[in-house]
Amino acid sequence: MLIAFLIFWILLGLGVFFVAMRGGARGARESLHTESRTGNRLITLGVVVLFAFGLAVPAIVLAFNGEHKAGVAVGGVKLNSEQQKGRELFAKSCAVCHTLAATRSVGRVGPNLDVRVGVDIATPSGRKALVESAIAEGRARGLGQMPALLYQGKEAQDVASFVAAVAGH
Ligand code: HEC
Repeated sequence: MLIAFLIFWILLGLGVFFVAMRGGARGARESLHTESRTGNRLITLGVVVLFAFGLAVPAIVLAFNGEHKAGVAVGGVKLNSEQQKGRELFAKSCAVCHTLAATRSVGRVGPNLDVRVGVDIATPSGRKALVESAIAEGRARGLGQMPALLYQGKEAQDVASFVAAVAGH
């Protein structure tokens, strides 16, 4: 992708260089008329290649932009559908108080979850369990207030699974 882009600009640069070497547009045109067939063929080929890249590069960009991005999170983490749901729920009810890089949230009421969950807790299951317990019980240990039961059941699970997957990335 990037390489195609670079080749396109390099060819364009070479074209400009060619014109400049022939003494500007007029000089280039004159020499085009007087030059050998091979020269003419080369130029036609150059124009065809330029057009091909001009079409190919935007086409590739369009094709890849159509790809579904909902499953992609920070650090190349792939989210399953529950975790994608969890991301939405986190943005709604948790991001106001917590910092988490994966949702670009910068809340400062509660602890930074990239640290408190992602760095402090070693295992994925431990991370999920901590988030589940925080949601179920709430927290008020002198560091501020976190209400209990912002989510319950499946929703709580989805949020916990999401945070466990992305915290610290
Ligand atoms: C009103 C602000 C607020 C909201 C909303 C909030 N939290 Fe908290 N959260 C806090 C505070 C404050 C603490 C630390 C409380 C303490 O330990 O005394 C905390 C602590 C935590 C902890 C660490 C628990 C521990 O034992 O260290 C986790 C995990 C957590 N929150 C996750 C969440 C999730 C997930 C949500 C969304 C469902 C959420 N929080 C919503 C304020 C909030």
